[in-house]
Amino acid sequence: MISSSSMSLFGLLFGLIVLLMLPFPSRASDPDPLQDVCIADLNATISINGFPCKPASNVTSDDFFTDFSKDPTTFDVFKRAVTLGDVFGFPAVNTQGVALFRIDLDVGGINPPHTHPRGTEAGIVTRGTVLVGLVTTNNTFFSKVLTPGKVFLIPRALVHFQLNVGNEPATFIPIFNTQNPGVSDSIGTLFDTTPPVPNEVLTKSFRVGDDVINTIRAARAQSSWINILDGRSISFMSHN
Ligand SMILES: *[C@@H]1O[C@H](CO)[C@@H](O)[C@H](O)[C@H]1NC(C)=O
Ligand SMILES: *[C@@H]1O[C@H](CO)[C@@H](O)[C@H](O)[C@H]1NC(C)=O
Ligand SMILES: *[C@@H]1O[C@H](CO)[C@@H](O)[C@H](O)[C@H]1NC(C)=O
Repeated sequence: MISSSSMSLFGLLFGLIVLLMLPFPSRASDPDPLQDVCIADLNATISINGFPCKPASNVTSDDFFTDFSKDPTTFDVFKRAVTLGDVFGFPAVNTQGVALFRIDLDVGGINPPHTHPRGTEAGIVTRGTVLVGLVTTNNTFFSKVLTPGKVFLIPRALVHFQLNVGNEPATFIPIFNTQNPGVSDSIGTLFDTTPPVPNEVLTKSFRVGDDVINTIRAARAQSSWINILDGRSISFMSHN
């Protein structure tokens, strides 16, 4: 369980991020809303930038709340579990320019190197000990080991990861300035594609032989982001 002091840390950070975004509407990642509330109708059949609103008369209190209190019962091959608070998991964020997630890493777990093409990420560790690392576009590596209450910032679209380096499960809450940050898995984007990226591209780029590439492909076979996420998350993936 997350302690109540951790929960208030979520609230503090959430408020901070919203305040930071307010004076800079032109720099917000998503377009400004044109109405108070636009709870996403995820089942709507028309395609727009974002989602259509469900009818105002259908909006209830429950639409404005979601639940990150539950510890995950299953982890993926990276010993990671993702609880969605983007537009797919929390339709209230539609048009609001914000999303948040709960990420759990079991002992030894990793959120492997990835980028978010549409959003800057600020996050707070609420449990455990997490090594957070990011790489700038000139390949400078920045990192720090974080404990509960410590906060990190990942600039939009930069490669980053989170690794549980403690001896207990770890939890952190990333928050984004977009309802749908999207995710590009830095490794899967080369090794897990359909159809496959040609081996010649990978052998020449990595400067290794086919054997190395084939070994990685085989090891990756069961580990892509898509394979390990639940139905709701698959739609999160397909909306990249
Ligand atoms: C959308 O469809 C799912 C099942 O496909 C259903 O469970 C859900 O209630 C629907 N939501 C709305 C708002 O109609
Ligand atoms: C709105 O509510 C009506 C009546 O309950 C229901 O039939 C309809 O499917 C709902 N529409 C959406 C988009 O939730
Ligand atoms: C790369 O970025 C780092 C950190 O901002 C900086 O210290 C370094 O001088 C940069 N290197 C080059 C070659 O621009």
